[in-house]
Amino acid sequence: MIRVLIVDDEIQLAQAFKKQLSKEDMDVTTVASGIEALKIIDQEDFDVAVLDIKLPDIDGIDLLSKLRQAEPTLEIIMLTGYASVDTAIRSMKLGAYDYLTKPCKISELSSVISKAYEKKSLKDKNILLKEHIQRISVQDEFVGNSTQMQKVKDLISLVAATDTPVLIQGETGTGKELAARAIHSSSPRASNPFVAINSSALQESMLESELFGYKKGAFTGAHNNKPGLLEIANEGTFFVDEIGDMSPPIQAKLLRVLENGTFMKLGDTKETRVDVRFVFATNKDLTSEVKEGRFRKDLFFRMNAFVIQLPPLREKKEDIPLLAEYFLIKFARAGIKKHLSERVKELLKGYYWPGNVRELANVIERACLISMDRNEIMPEDLPEAIFTPGYNQIRGPDIKVKEGSASLAELEIEHIRYVLNSVGGNKSKAARILGISRKKLYNKLENI
Ligand SMILES: Nc1ncnc2c1ncn2[C@@H]1O[C@H](COP(=O)(O)OP(=O)(O)OP(=O)(O)O)[C@@H](O)[C@H]1O
Ligand SMILES: [Mg+2]
Repeated sequence: MIRVLIVDDEIQLAQAFKKQLSKEDMDVTTVASGIEALKIIDQEDFDVAVLDIKLPDIDGIDLLSKLRQAEPTLEIIMLTGYASVDTAIRSMKLGAYDYLTKPCKISELSSVISKAYEKKSLKDKNILLKEHIQRISVQDEFVGNSTQMQKVKDLISLVAATDTPVLIQGETGTGKELAARAIHSSSPRASNPFVAINSSALQESMLESELFGYKKGAFTGAHNNKPGLLEIANEGTFFVDEIGDMSPPIQAKLLRVLENGTFMKLGDTKETRVDVRFVFATNKDLTSEVKEGRFRKDLFFRMNAFVIQLPPLREKKEDIPLLAEYFLIKFARAGIKKHLSERVKELLKGYYWPGNVRELANVIERACLISMDRNEIMPEDLPEAIFTPGYNQIRGPDIKVKEGSASLAELEIEHIRYVLNSVGGNKSKAARILGISRKKLYNKLENI
């Protein structure tokens, strides 16, 4: 369905156009002034606009540039009561798709709208393609030579060639999204879209309409048909982030897509079929979510076909200097070459990195700024947390607490405090790192 906006103060004419075009599967909205056009373009999506050059409030040519600014992919057709080559040339120069002289035949208008729409669809596809090209270099950016990272890269190359669903597990900031994009860009689907959705960022009803889309009139406020992200991802890769936070009813619908590629849009009576490759990510332990009845077992088994586990940074210490150098180049001002002092390398290797690679990137970005014109990054350029007394020793696989000095409960409290501190007191982030719900974290904090 082509969404058309007609801007013309000759209301009867506009209504007549609307009536005819609606018969040709076009969804037509009419407004009578430039101000109204600018308002509605802000609220609704259109593919093609038809503008009368002579409007009561804004000059049609001015409106053309304003609309193009507001909605760069919108195609615009100009209408005028009298043929003026000069205005025609001006509007084409400003990016109008075509130009018709009134009175024009409805068949003529309809065919120009259809052609303009074809051009717009191509433009939309091109934008997706450009985004894709920017992402294609992702795999080169997957920094790390440790055996763990070699294994991860091998698994990515192996699974990329297939359509098997992949589950990527790992703590926050370990590169789960980066891995998902790398799978896509090394797969035969690479020239098709990569679409991502974050299950924890959206409310249940929003998530449902984003995923599956809806038909016009499915609920109050559904003024137009809306394609779901699954449809947009057709023939490409669909990345479902934080799958552990998805509610069981949506899990059930998603399982059906995984099993036979079909789903029902909200308000639709027909099934929609898509061909997508799924990549899931989570930092939760899904086995225990399944045990506790929060995650569907059948979906878990489908997703679990191929698992890639991303190691936390503290378990691939040899990659730390490599990653740090990579971020130094990325964040240092152009033309300035910085390096890390030996002591800084030691400190970075000794730290626990609860926020993993993302935290390392932030630390280096900050150090690049603080060190100003100095070429060597020194310990004083690092944040306090990296020196937290005892922290470098007591965290990670090599926990060294003085014998008998701390109970498990005390250690837990200390760890919670530390993590909270490292994320600036943000409880949602802390709960994610700790692998517990926010509610659980609140309960624990009450008891401190
Ligand atoms: N091996 C790596 N090489 C280079 N950059 C990396 C690597 N791993 C992660 N990064 C960078 O670290 C940041 C965090 O990565 P990403 O967003 O993929 O993590 P995540 O596991 O999805 O985190 P979260 O669970 O918080 O969503 C990104 O900027 C990413 O580019
Ligand atoms: Mg992520």
